[in-house]
Amino acid sequence: MISARYPSYMNIDPFIDVERLKSLDGIITERLRQRLASAGDRQFYTGPFLFDANTPDLPGSRMIELARSREPENYYDLDRTEIWEPSAEAAEFAPLMDFIATLPFAATGRMLIMYDPIGRAVSAHKDHDSTDLCHEFIWFRSNLSKPFYMLNPETGERAYVAGHAAWFDTVNQFHGADGSGGLSFSIRVDGVFSDEFRNKIPFPKENRAAAPSVWANSVMAV
Ligand SMILES: [Fe+2]
Repeated sequence: MISARYPSYMNIDPFIDVERLKSLDGIITERLRQRLASAGDRQFYTGPFLFDANTPDLPGSRMIELARSREPENYYDLDRTEIWEPSAEAAEFAPLMDFIATLPFAATGRMLIMYDPIGRAVSAHKDHDSTDLCHEFIWFRSNLSKPFYMLNPETGERAYVAGHAAWFDTVNQFHGADGSGGLSFSIRVDGVFSDEFRNKIPFPKENRAAAPSVWANSVMAV
């Protein structure tokens, strides 16, 4: 049986249209710069599971919600696809929404752009602590300027995401970003993967949250 090794992430570039994603970089960057003037976007909160308690849980990045829940905020709702609907901001980022429609999801839930105009570090954190819960999401970016990494808490070893898209274990390892000094952003879409995509994934019977790392390890073992 293939197990998970940390730090690790599953490279999703082979499953998406990377050239189309890269072609959106100019328009996303331009729209983000237009929004900076208003500065009304909500601050990103890492949650309580920080790797280093001395790092900020409000690291300075902000979020643009491309979908909004019809129910009061609850982190465990992010893949309840039936309660999410496109926000007004989705229209502002229409070419991005068209791209998201090409991703291997049967249905989408929460959709966020995370950005920081001055590219501050994002404190390493876990998203939650339920090892039996595996969120199906794709993290992606139109350029490589955000130094985004996975971190093994026991060894301190980091694995930086090299490409444009990843799926990663958010529970058994930490993730964060180094400062970049300039506008940096990434996008995360949660939902339910398509059956075709799910069929490729070796979901473990226990510690289901480890599925992205088990998958990454199995690909490397081939
Ligand atoms: Fe996170």
